[in-house]
Amino acid sequence: MTRFEGRTALITAAGSGLGRGVALRLAREGARVKIWDRDEAALDKAVTEAKSEGLSITSQAIDMTDGNAIEAAVAALVAEMGQVDVLVNNIGGSLHTPFRFLDQSDEDWRQVIDVNVSACVRTTRAVLPQMVATGYGRIINMGSKAGRFGSLFAGANYVASKGAMQAFTLQIAQEFGPNGITCNTLCPGAILTPRVKGLLEERQSAQERQQVLETIPVRRHGAVQDVAAAIAYLASEEAGFVNGASLDINGGQSMVI
Ligand SMILES: NC(=O)c1ccc[n+]([C@@H]2O[C@H](COP(=O)([O-])OP(=O)(O)OC[C@H]3O[C@@H](n4cnc5c(N)ncnc54)[C@H](O)[C@@H]3O)[C@@H](O)[C@H]2O)c1
Repeated sequence: MTRFEGRTALITAAGSGLGRGVALRLAREGARVKIWDRDEAALDKAVTEAKSEGLSITSQAIDMTDGNAIEAAVAALVAEMGQVDVLVNNIGGSLHTPFRFLDQSDEDWRQVIDVNVSACVRTTRAVLPQMVATGYGRIINMGSKAGRFGSLFAGANYVASKGAMQAFTLQIAQEFGPNGITCNTLCPGAILTPRVKGLLEERQSAQERQQVLETIPVRRHGAVQDVAAAIAYLASEEAGFVNGASLDINGGQSMVI
């Protein structure tokens, strides 16, 4: 498939986990992809894997808690690629902060909001002027089932920050739709990356994990490919009439009319 031939994409925090899977998927469909991460070893591994498949993925090491570094990295990206057609604001996570609200400190809230909200806001702000100039863009924010329905293993700081990203999506969709730019949120349930598998094993007993599985109509957790396929659709030209949406990708574990 060559849906992204001639298109460029920036995927944040994509040295490993879901971002890496999304980067490989878009590159396999023809995109020139830039991946950011603070973990240089992970970036090297991802780029080497891409090269072995003949894919166009390059990387930039960056700590996304640094706003100035984000602005500089976007400027370098635009200078290198000439345009950014697709932005996947993938960075985020609960950072292993406590699950229970009363155990969470101000610092736990600051850190989680910093990566889930501030880093994405800053990246979006730096990329948008260039998308406006070309009259085309696809922005996908990584939300979570947690932001829509609450979480069984991540705390209130994470849930609130993902909800904030959904609200942010609505306003970007509204403000920049006239410029040919769409903005949507993807809301995955638990996707079994090695990190999430470890978190579930740490925070739930084997019996609790089995009970959770029985609440998922398709009787399995999500895989990285499930997320990559959904993002590839939202990032494609043919999704141009999908704007301001929150797409649940949770096997039917939580459903709304
Ligand atoms: N995995 C899931 O089950 C799941 C479910 C719902 C939503 N999400 C969301 O999807 C996104 C990706 O999740 P994941 O599980 O793949 O993440 P992950 O924890 O595996 O992290 C992916 C990458 O982020 C990088 N990173 C962390 N802090 C950084 C920083 N300050 N600067 C630059 N890079 C940094 C890490 O080095 C890592 O390579 C997150 O926004 C997460 O909240 C994940």
